[in-house]
Amino acid sequence: MSDSKPEDNRDMRASSANLRLAPAEIAETDLIIDGVSKRFNTREGTVTAVDGMSFSIERGEFVSIIGPSGCGKSTIFSILGGLVRSFDGRVTVNGEEISGPHPAIGMVFQEESTFPWRTVIDNVAFPLEVQGVAKAQRYEIARRFIDMVGLAGFEQRYPSELSGGMRQRVAIARTLVFEPKILLMDEPFAALDEQTRLLLGDKVLKIQQDLRQTTLLITHNITEAVQLSDRVIIMTFRPGRVKRIVDIRLPRPRHGDVVSSEAFGRYVAEIWSDLREEASRGMAETEAGARQSKA
Ligand SMILES: Nc1ncnc2c1ncn2[C@@H]1O[C@H](COP(=O)(O)OP(=O)(O)OP(=O)(O)O)[C@@H](O)[C@H]1O
Ligand SMILES: [Mg+2]
Repeated sequence: MSDSKPEDNRDMRASSANLRLAPAEIAETDLIIDGVSKRFNTREGTVTAVDGMSFSIERGEFVSIIGPSGCGKSTIFSILGGLVRSFDGRVTVNGEEISGPHPAIGMVFQEESTFPWRTVIDNVAFPLEVQGVAKAQRYEIARRFIDMVGLAGFEQRYPSELSGGMRQRVAIARTLVFEPKILLMDEPFAALDEQTRLLLGDKVLKIQQDLRQTTLLITHNITEAVQLSDRVIIMTFRPGRVKRIVDIRLPRPRHGDVVSSEAFGRYVAEIWSDLREEASRGMAETEAGARQSKA
């Protein structure tokens, strides 16, 4: 069981105002998030969604961010993906500070994102079509990824003819097709039942290990985070900050059955105890807000 505290974690070393990573460490670090904050102006005033978050992800690492609803997970996802340009702090991808979407990054969104008017194969081949890849070649590549996510045989179906889990696999294959070096996923399995979630988690993990992709998964599911990750970053409820980072020292390769091991159970309990505090705080604040607006 990890007993790493934030202050002795390598991520926190990257968090000081001056990044003090040695050059060799920078070379192995794909993603550095340094003191990132984001405020939104709303009718009710300013909301601080993310407050001074700092962490880094190394090449080929699988990291999950876990936190209660509304803690700023999707905000971080959008900032890393270059979709939000006005924020405080710095995000560096392969040593370059980002100022918009970075070509090394592929994103799988929280919301349903397949194109309903395109078949499975034309959904998956879409990024290649945009790049001008010839039809025969893009279909060949798309088929490889359709196969990887277990959808061989469904190439000519439309999204409305698939289950929610299958549609999400189409979205994942469409992101994988241009082989991004860094994969960001925002609750890609949220709409799925527990069994499908575990099986799809297995598939994603296998693909990530085969392609050696640096992966950041955003989730509120503890089992999923522990099953897949090298490290789990636990966020506080609003404003979103890094509460703690847990190293998951379970052997790889991992399969879905790892969830029944004793060590797995200990990680889940450890993370849940941190998360419960934050979730309870979130619930109390939401209820207090509701009472205030009624009064
Ligand atoms: N465009 C926006 N304008 C105003 N407030 C926003 C905007 N986007 C997010 N917020 C606020 O920022 C906070 C964090 O939102 P965010 O979507 O990042 O949370 P989340 O952790 O992804 O939640 P969930 O688990 O429900 O997806 C929330 O209070 C939300 O209301
Ligand atoms: Mg979200």
